[in-house]
This record gives sequence, C-alpha cells and structure tokens, in this order.
Amino acid sequence: MGVTITLEVLEQFTKIVGDNYILTDNESLAQYGKDETERLLYLPQVVLRPATTEEISAILRICNDQKIPVTPRAAGTGLSGGAIPTHGGVVLSIDRLNKIIDIDEKNLQVTTETGVITEVLQDAVKEKGLFYPPDPSSKGSCFIGGNIAENSGGPKAVKYGKVKDYVLNLEVVLPTGEIIWTGANVLKNSTGYNLTQLMVGSEGTLGIVTKAVFKLIPYPKHDMLMLVPFHSLEGASAAVSAIFRAGFTPSCLELTEIDALKITSDFVGNTTVPVDDTIAAHLIIEVDGNDPEALMKDMEGIATALEPFDIGEIFFAEDTTQKEELWKIRRRAAEAVKVVGYTIEEDTVVPRAELPALINGMKELGKKHDFKVVCYGHAGDGNIHVRINKEGFPNSYGHPEMESILTELFKLVVELGGTISGEHGIGLTQKEYLLLKLDPIQLSLMRGIKKVFDPNNILNPGKIFD
Ligand code: LAC
Ligand code: ZN
Repeated sequence: MGVTITLEVLEQFTKIVGDNYILTDNESLAQYGKDETERLLYLPQVVLRPATTEEISAILRICNDQKIPVTPRAAGTGLSGGAIPTHGGVVLSIDRLNKIIDIDEKNLQVTTETGVITEVLQDAVKEKGLFYPPDPSSKGSCFIGGNIAENSGGPKAVKYGKVKDYVLNLEVVLPTGEIIWTGANVLKNSTGYNLTQLMVGSEGTLGIVTKAVFKLIPYPKHDMLMLVPFHSLEGASAAVSAIFRAGFTPSCLELTEIDALKITSDFVGNTTVPVDDTIAAHLIIEVDGNDPEALMKDMEGIATALEPFDIGEIFFAEDTTQKEELWKIRRRAAEAVKVVGYTIEEDTVVPRAELPALINGMKELGKKHDFKVVCYGHAGDGNIHVRINKEGFPNSYGHPEMESILTELFKLVVELGGTISGEHGIGLTQKEYLLLKLDPIQLSLMRGIKKVFDPNNILNPGKIFD
C-alpha cells in the first residue's frame, strides 16, 4: 500500500498513452476515486486511459516491475466497490477500447473491445436481428468489461442467463503484461481448464479483459409486459415460485416493494404507470418469443396461477411507451433510492422458494436495529437487492455496527441456502462477509489462483479478499 509513483515512471506512462490520456489533476482523481457504491472515495495517484491492448500490456509490465497497484476501471457503475482504488497508484480506464470489432452473422457471434457500452453492443447486434441478453440496470452506461468482471445479470437473466452464459473467448492482459486468449470461438470446448470462465466474475483481480467474443441468439420478435399488484410483500414473494411451478418461464420476473416503486416513480416523473400505495409490492412480469398468441396464453396462464394470491388489478403495458416507462421505473430504482438516503445496497440471493423467509427476516432485522429497508430485484432468480437507510450510517464498509447488522442478514441468507452476491460481486464492501459463505479451503484455493496470475499482487489489490 502507498507506493509513490516517481516522476520517471510518470514520464514512461506518458510515452505509452500520450499527453492527453494521463490525468493527475484533482478533479479527475476524485472522479476516478469512486464508483456507484455507497459513499466511498479513495484517490489514485494517476489515471491512465490507454487505447490498445499493447498499451495496457506496457503499463502493466512497468507496474509489475515497480510493484505499483493498478485498479482497472470500466464505467464505474459497480455496486461493490470493485473499481475503487483503495491502494492509490494507477487507475487504468478501458474507456477508449470502445470498438465493436465484428458481428459474425453466420456464426451468431460478436467480437468486441470491452470499453463498449452494453446497450450500444445490444443495439448493434439487434440491427442484425440478434440478441445479447445480459442487461444490468445500468446497461445505458456500464461497459462490457465491467459486466465480464462482475459476471453481471439483470432482469433477462431469469430466462437467458448471465454474462458467463454468452462468453466464448477473451483477450486478457495478465498482471505481468503478457497477453493471452483464454478459449476459442466455438460453442463447445473441453480443452484444459476453463480459463475463460475463471476470468468471468474475477473482478479485475486476475487480468484486464481487452476483447471478448460472445455468442448471440436470434432476437425474439415479441414481448408482453404486466405489472401485478399484491397486498402483501410476502404474498408477492411467495407467488414467484408458483409461476414456475405452473410451468412458465417469464423473460423477466422482477419484484419491487411499493416504497421503491413510489420513490423511483417520482424520481423519473412517471405519469403512465399506475402506482397505488394501498399496495405492498408488485411483480413485473414479461414474456417473450416469436408467437404473439402463445405469449397471450402465457400471460393468461400466469394470471391464473396468481389468482390464489391477494392481488389487485393487473396493469398490462399496452404499447412501447408504457413498457419503456415501466422499465425505467424498475431500472432506475438503485439510483433513486440512493438519493433519498438508502445508500447501502446488498445483493442477496436465495433459492426462489425461500424468498418469503428472506424478506420477512430482512424486515425483522430492520425493526430490531432501527433502520428503513426497501427491496427490489430479480425475484425470478431469487436475487433481491436489499437497500438500507439508517440514520448516521451512509456506508457499511468500515462501520462495525453496520457490519454486524449485515452479518446477521448474510447468516440468514446462507441458512436459507443462498449466498451474499448474485450479480454485484464481492469487491471491497462485501469481502468482510466472504467466510460466511466460503470455507477456508475454498478461500485458500482462490488465494492460490490469485498468486499464480498476479505474484506481486498489483492488480486490484484488496478486492474479494485481502
Ligand atoms: C438493479 C441493479 C442494482 O437490479 O442490479 O437495479
Ligand atoms: Zn440487479
């Protein structure tokens, strides 16, 4: 920790990236010293914005040699502090690696640099009738590279899976500066250890992913969306597994508690989606496919499966405008609730039939420790974002009282057969709780892997584990 980068090394960096892409002014350092996690700020000494894999390799060779900490950064939308430069040193931004290299329509694949915005990639392949499904709420600003680092999910994951399900092959710069491809551009691969999947979700601790090859699928031609109100939160959470048991796989199955919906509805200035506050929670349910009649039948079947629950009047989004408005309210929840004081976010995930137990336990914890809590998230995956607002505690990281509350929450999650992060990663803010889920042997294997890739511990030090 606390290595000072000499003027001589700064000059070497300047030669690699050029004068315009080395930042040392206070404003830039502050901008790159934080992400979307809680309210945390750690300043780097310098920010580098290389344009190519080779420039990244040259930078890492120097940093490895000089033992300078490097925090890789994509768009900085992460929610576990993975991009926060806790050890100072270099922040290495991949934002200039922003080209989509090739859309292979014959093989249904795309090769892209990793500083491309997720939605830009999605739109580019959609123009060719193709679909790259992983869609984190921040898809309009997050980068593919960050999504790979965290193995991101999003609403579509319930039917289509996460980033890991689409990655075929990755170009990676190792902490030593060496450049590798991890796999092959094929749909099946049993050729040695799976380095591709090892990189996915490694949170920028094993290498910097500079290019990715994803498989794509045909874009489904139709979708239908409904908002189902429930008079109790427990009822909404119990209904989730009933939908699957009745034989349906929605393309999205999201839950939002009424306070989250109200706060975000105000935040985005919603006027089209009905928000009734006699309701406790809603499920947002989407089905998709190529046959509109079959989709209509699915919607009716799902509505029938929900009849035994105490529901209000279902709102069917009639057109694209209503669908977009509803998605905006769901997608901007994280941002909106943070503004009004729910700064701490957890990314709990349990087997989906355990959702009611998780939700009841979370509410009890709120009463016991006197904090406000709202939840929303990917109920179809059992993945609920628990958002906490406790007076005087804007952060969980480094606050023993809040850490002991979260320990209680995560013990419950683990007892229910779940784990502490479904899609946001461990990063900085969750590492305190890692041993609630992993046993020491697992942790020691992970440490061993880290050492093989990064013997000098320069790449994203202090993330996942110390
Ligand atoms: C969401 C992000 C926070 O689901 O994961 O909104
Ligand atoms: Zn989410």
